[in-house]
Amino acid sequence: MIISKIDKVTSFEKRFEKINTVIFESSEVASKAAAAEIATLIKKKQKANEMCVLGLATGSTPKRLYAELVRLHKEENLSFKNVIAFNLDEYYPMEPDAIQSYVRFMKELLFNHVDIEPGNYHIPDGTLEKKDIADYCKEYEAKIDALGGIDLQILGIGGNGHIGFNESGSLPNSKTRLVTLDHITRVAASKDFQGLYNTPKTAITLGIKQIMQAKQVILMAWGEGKSSIIKASVEGPITEQVPASYLQEHPNSVFILDNGSSSKLTRVSTPWIVEKVEWNEKMIKKAVVGLALRLEKPVLMLTEADYIENGMSDLLTEVGDAYDINIRIFNKLQHTITGWPGGKPNADDSNRPERANPAKKRVLIFSPHPDDDIISMGGTFMRLQNQGHEVHVAYQTSGNIAVADDEALRFSDFVIDYNRSFGLDNRKSIEIYKKATEFIKNKKTSEIDIEEVRNIKGLIRRSEARATSYYVGLTDEQIHFNDLPFYETGTIEKNPPGEEDIKITMDLIEKIKPHQIYAAGDLADPHGTHKVCLDIIFEALKRLKTKSYMKDCWLWLYRGAWQEWDIEDIEMAVPMSPSQVLAKRYGIFKHQSQKDGVVFQGSDSREFWQRAEDRNKETATKYDELGLAHYAAMEAFVRYHF
Ligand code: F6R
Repeated sequence: MIISKIDKVTSFEKRFEKINTVIFESSEVASKAAAAEIATLIKKKQKANEMCVLGLATGSTPKRLYAELVRLHKEENLSFKNVIAFNLDEYYPMEPDAIQSYVRFMKELLFNHVDIEPGNYHIPDGTLEKKDIADYCKEYEAKIDALGGIDLQILGIGGNGHIGFNESGSLPNSKTRLVTLDHITRVAASKDFQGLYNTPKTAITLGIKQIMQAKQVILMAWGEGKSSIIKASVEGPITEQVPASYLQEHPNSVFILDNGSSSKLTRVSTPWIVEKVEWNEKMIKKAVVGLALRLEKPVLMLTEADYIENGMSDLLTEVGDAYDINIRIFNKLQHTITGWPGGKPNADDSNRPERANPAKKRVLIFSPHPDDDIISMGGTFMRLQNQGHEVHVAYQTSGNIAVADDEALRFSDFVIDYNRSFGLDNRKSIEIYKKATEFIKNKKTSEIDIEEVRNIKGLIRRSEARATSYYVGLTDEQIHFNDLPFYETGTIEKNPPGEEDIKITMDLIEKIKPHQIYAAGDLADPHGTHKVCLDIIFEALKRLKTKSYMKDCWLWLYRGAWQEWDIEDIEMAVPMSPSQVLAKRYGIFKHQSQKDGVVFQGSDSREFWQRAEDRNKETATKYDELGLAHYAAMEAFVRYHF
């Protein structure tokens, strides 16, 4: 397997791992490596005049892989004439041309763009009568067996460890069959079906047995969101609760990971346990903070014995005794805390996260959706404004797909009443209202909204964002709506970022010439809007880097609604008093369309303001547990050097 050849890590370092894993710097590079592996196999089979039987997956994970295969076909003449493909699964029931269908997915992402024979790809049929499914599944397996089995199986992994749709509890000898989807799986899928209610409850999936019989298996996983299940599958026991753990017994399988998904593997999270490490400052902080939290002891209470008993005696030998290390890390943590996120004027800033000068800074907060600014850094936002900085906020996308249909109608109804009561011309408003009502009444699940409805939804979010910014104290000149075009597809699936997105972002940075930029560093979902918004900012900054004002520009990354920074990574922690927590909550309340049963709830049933409060409280609690001051809540930031 060529991927294994790229891997420089020794088996000793991997000794906690029971599956061959290879970690790549990014999902892009990893996907290319997987595509290269597939291409090599296809060509080898071509030479031998043999068919190549591929097992394929859907979902967000293999998208770049398919894009790369298409590129190899178009630019490097990779032919798929000898490929026979079998997809893992399909929702049931499902029409092949529905937006969410895996038939459509595979055609749009791969099959329509390569020269595979139309009769040579197979995707479980979601239109069958229930009574016919069992026979159909037998035939599906028989077809694979008749070809000598799957040569190479591509897999993703679910948050619960499912492979295909073999959910927790699937046995190793399970066959291709109709299954009931797990709640976690349905929640993950619900974003494509406009809510859980519309999400199918069942699916047809290839069984574990057939997957295990594949001659070679590549499982891919990206992003921190998958890190826990990757650790469980790779390092944990083989259990039906985590079906991917069965792959520990596969003779030729590899897990292809990126930095995020591999971050909880022992060799990555606590490398000092695995091998002799070079103790740099970052690693010492990570190790000591981790030790203190694990032992539930304040940093200053850690003893030599604690270090020795937890695989860190090395650190004592190389760096000094426990007392000195404890104080060093305690001070480091202490220096991250500041009530002056824009820098404290006229103060010694040698041990503060931000510079004292200039005392009045120009600040630009990028908010991917119209509410991320207040949810993720509302307390800091208010402090920056109250401490006299020139604060600008840029709402990067319209966020229009996250507004419920009835909200759109309620607001257009309001406009009609408004016009009527002030004697304004109402003809056009009524026309739009009627068109919107008619469309929404007949709208099929996940049908793309017509332009008028999208527009109304975008305006609702705009007015909410403005309300929050006014509440914080900003004026119209400080509020910027970027409406980045990549977002405007009307569906969850977004376009890749383009030149126009980068230009809009560069123009705004040029105009404001900020001393501080705040951006969302939520990278849990590597294909999500936040990641794309961040990539656009990175690209804009790269292109502007040589401008003289950029020398004074610092970039701070915040997190919030979905995940929080690890304590050891935090470089600025902005504390909040109980009344500041309340003030932030009221700021979040301005986003009424995102309250009380939102369109994209995710797996977390709490409201956004509750998630934000819980996270901020948790950060403060951890600082407290580590032996630092006890605050009601804290917002956390990491500085990104570009
Ligand atoms: C899809 C499939 C599933 C996905 C898994 C991960 O054909 O069989 O097992 O691979 O749910 O989905 P993503 O890649 O969207 O995170």
